[in-house]
Amino acid sequence: MRAVCLLLLAALVPPGLSHRQDPFAWLYGPRSQGYHAGFLRADAAGGDCPDECDCPPTFPVAMYCDGRGLTAVPAIPSRMKYLYLQNNAIKAVPDSSLVNATNLVWLMMHHNLLTSDAIGEQAFSKMQDLERLYLQHNNLTRIPPSLPRSLRDLRLDHNRVDKVTSVELGGMDNLTILHLHDNAVTDMGTALKGLKSLILLDISGNKLKKIPEALPEYLHQLYVESNSIDSLPEDFLARFTQLQYIRMAHNQLTDKGIPPNTFNVSGLVELDLSFNKLERIPRVSTTLQHLYLQANQIKEFSLGSFCSAVDISNFSQLRTLRLDGNEISRQDIPSESALCLRQASTIEV
Ligand SMILES: *[C@@H]1O[C@H](CO)[C@@H](O)[C@H](O)[C@H]1NC(C)=O
Ligand SMILES: *[C@@H]1O[C@H](CO)[C@@H](O)[C@H](O)[C@H]1NC(C)=O
Ligand SMILES: *[C@@H]1O[C@H](CO)[C@@H](O)[C@H](O)[C@H]1NC(C)=O
Ligand SMILES: *[C@@H]1O[C@H](CO)[C@@H](O)[C@H](O)[C@H]1NC(C)=O
Ligand SMILES: *[C@@H]1O[C@H](CO)[C@@H](O)[C@H](O)[C@H]1NC(C)=O
Repeated sequence: MRAVCLLLLAALVPPGLSHRQDPFAWLYGPRSQGYHAGFLRADAAGGDCPDECDCPPTFPVAMYCDGRGLTAVPAIPSRMKYLYLQNNAIKAVPDSSLVNATNLVWLMMHHNLLTSDAIGEQAFSKMQDLERLYLQHNNLTRIPPSLPRSLRDLRLDHNRVDKVTSVELGGMDNLTILHLHDNAVTDMGTALKGLKSLILLDISGNKLKKIPEALPEYLHQLYVESNSIDSLPEDFLARFTQLQYIRMAHNQLTDKGIPPNTFNVSGLVELDLSFNKLERIPRVSTTLQHLYLQANQIKEFSLGSFCSAVDISNFSQLRTLRLDGNEISRQDIPSESALCLRQASTIEV
């Protein structure tokens, strides 16, 4: 037991929060773009600027119209590259409203009242350079039509999207981040197939009964928490070469639904299978570092899930193992574990 340090962190760390650091946080955050409300309002001499917005002279290609109670898209001077329209009450984006915004690179429209019916067929199509489109926290039931293929970061989480097709996403060769979590998607068909640059896919909090087909092969992060998935396809991870983080907490996974070597693939860093219906610890690769299995129905501690009995020199790299909220206790962990799980600094039962 010497190398295995049993730390009871449950009281300190809320379930699920301990591993929430997002390794791609550096990709986020328009707020870090040198925008300080005080200094913006000092001078609006950066060229044409609608009254309801601020266009800082020091950053003449940005227009800040966020949080002003707007109900419609204001006129947009064509020099603009960065447009902030979030936190308003905008209901519609007719085809005519963005005609002059052909140079936009970022368009922030999250936290508005957009519905799919009120978005023109060609509303976004003129923006050939658009890279970031934030539409999260609206009331959309579909991914808007004719989105620019230049997009790199598309956020549509917290809407009411129930269907996704390849018509909407096809040809987005540079799309790197797709946030579709907290919608009502039941099936995605092969909608994600062509997304050859996608590294982060978040489809948590939908109504999926299975893993979408044809997931892009260069994914680094796959988040499908809080759906209704009860089984995984055979060799489902074999195709991926870069996948490091898989989060599937809060689904309906059973032992039967997971083919034997599904998770015994090298490269994975973190696997979250907490809050499912597993009775056994699935076999994982010795290279895995963080395994979350809390709140399942696991009844035994199977050391063979982590290490080979034949080759004990190939010990596990596991650092975190959470087994709390299962049907085992600390006494069920055999003492040989100390050798195999010698890297583990947290084993929680
Ligand atoms: C687009 O630009 C033209 C010419 O500057 C202007 O007349 C028109 O009002 C603008 N339309 C919008 C929707 O901004
Ligand atoms: C969303 O749209 C539906 C109708 O399409 C409407 O009933 C509902 O109130 C809207 N919700 C919000 C938050 O605007
Ligand atoms: C993707 O990015 C590359 C390099 O920035 C660019 O040349 C290409 O046109 C982009 N693809 C699309 C579909 O916009
Ligand atoms: C250790 O086991 C992993 C799979 O769990 C395998 O990919 C790797 O090649 C093994 N390493 C050695 C040195 O045998
Ligand atoms: C994982 O698969 C490798 C072969 O790829 C095998 O050598 C190893 O024993 C397996 N790991 C476990 C824990 O069974």
